[in-house]
Amino acid sequence: MGHIEKSLILIKPDAVERHVTGKIIDIYESNGLRLIALKMIKVDEELAKTHYAEHSGKIFFDELIRYITRSPLIAAIVEGQNAIEKVRKLNGNTNPEMAEYGTIRKKFGVNKTENSVHSSDCGENAEKEISLWFPEIEQI
Ligand code: CMP
Repeated sequence: MGHIEKSLILIKPDAVERHVTGKIIDIYESNGLRLIALKMIKVDEELAKTHYAEHSGKIFFDELIRYITRSPLIAAIVEGQNAIEKVRKLNGNTNPEMAEYGTIRKKFGVNKTENSVHSSDCGENAEKEISLWFPEIEQI
């Protein structure tokens, strides 16, 4: 079994640009996850750098910030049994080339930077990311 969790999802600029957001949301919903919040925003540099703070200083950081701020993305919160691990499995490996067949990144990802989706990697980060991306929502 497991317990009910929430995870923060980003459907990133490359996926919005290629009109596949509906297909991606369908995959989460078809796998028992419930959308409890969703919005489209063009991310500013400050939010991008806060979200990706752990990658600050890495060689791909500047490219990552440029990419995530270049056009609107969708931020969403999903809820369900073992949501964090479930979403990670549905997303697949960070690198679309390495991702398992059937995963979102294998189907839609372009490369390591433009990999279509982001999701929280653990409970602690899910809480942090939910309050960062949805400060208007009361925390539980
Ligand atoms: P995400 O799950 O959003 O978390 C960090 C992001 O950094 C990751 O997805 C990729 O988009 C990006 N990333 C991670 N590793 C690399 C890399 N080696 N080169 C370029 N981008 C990367």
